[in-house]
Amino acid sequence: MSAALKIDQFNLLADEDCDARIRAAKSILGKRLAILGHHYQRDEVFKHADFTGDSLKLSQLAAKTEAEFIIFCGVHFMAEVADIVTDGQRNVILPDLAAGCSMADMANLIKVRKCWSEISEVLDPDEKVTPVTYINSAADLKAFCGSHGGIVCTSSNARGVLEWSFSRREKVLFFPDQHLGRNTGYRMGIPLDEMVLWDFTKPMGGLTVEEIRKAKIILWKGFCSVHQMFHPAHIEKFRREVPRGKVISHPENAFEVCENSDYVGSTEYILRTVRAAEAGSHWLIGTELNLVNRLKDEMKPKGVTVQFMSPMVCMCSTMFRTDPQHLAWTLDNLIAGQVVNRIRVPQEIAKPARAALDLMLEVVD
Ligand code: 13P
Ligand code: SF4
Repeated sequence: MSAALKIDQFNLLADEDCDARIRAAKSILGKRLAILGHHYQRDEVFKHADFTGDSLKLSQLAAKTEAEFIIFCGVHFMAEVADIVTDGQRNVILPDLAAGCSMADMANLIKVRKCWSEISEVLDPDEKVTPVTYINSAADLKAFCGSHGGIVCTSSNARGVLEWSFSRREKVLFFPDQHLGRNTGYRMGIPLDEMVLWDFTKPMGGLTVEEIRKAKIILWKGFCSVHQMFHPAHIEKFRREVPRGKVISHPENAFEVCENSDYVGSTEYILRTVRAAEAGSHWLIGTELNLVNRLKDEMKPKGVTVQFMSPMVCMCSTMFRTDPQHLAWTLDNLIAGQVVNRIRVPQEIAKPARAALDLMLEVVD
């Protein structure tokens, strides 16, 4: 076996050279390889994906694939999920280890444990509170949920997961995305004043005992830096300019954005809805730019107009880290018999995390 090739040898290659290497490696590796691509990946990478999807679809695909090597063109938590649901039996590779998720980083095990213990000063959380983590979180937080009767959700099954949670315990602790929790809870009929915000920088989350007792959902104060760029004013402007236009947003958007939208759903839902739109319709979309730009190009020949919600460019900078150079580097290493950037979740974390993920996959289809 030869020594691993270094990324420095690839960083200066032109995208076209990387394309040729990627295509050659894919044809040599054949069915031994599956490249998964999230909808936010840039075009130069996305075009090489064998399977594309939102977080739920990609985790289901990862669980099913028999490929020996799974290259995850997405972010770190997605690769961790792929390793967990395949029991460490596949080589799950993240082309650039710096491809994280800033929202996932807003919660960590120490802070969540502190929150749980502070809540226990008011009530017994293991009896009264279901911990629910958005899939955009580190594996040890999924393990925390698995060990405390909790569960994982994605943007496409959050409602079903919350319904399941409330059928077991009276309250939910939802982390790390306050917006997905609030938007979903509100659409289920939970009033805003029964969803309180846990500020993890303050003792007792900055809440009173009464507020904790009254709350149905305790929302972690996390958010997505990309989706916070969209504002109701963008929607108002669009409605003035295109009165018959439709607005569709991802549930990581603020409450006011989602409430002013005609449709709210995951990336896969957004694609499905706009692809089914009538010719002549006009859409404003509140989610990441790479997805919107691709959809705009795809729908133009069908007479459907797609517009990005913000006047600013807001891409997911961590998704953007995966470039053709890193993809070519990981693939050429596989050809040379070297697995680089393998994501491995230790067994003691993977086991309880898997319990919480399996529940999600069972509870909500
Ligand atoms: P989806 O599961 O809807 O693709 O969302 C993932 C994500 O990170 C959105 O910011
Ligand atoms: Fe994380 Fe936001 Fe990027 Fe999604 S868009 S991966 S939530 S930073």
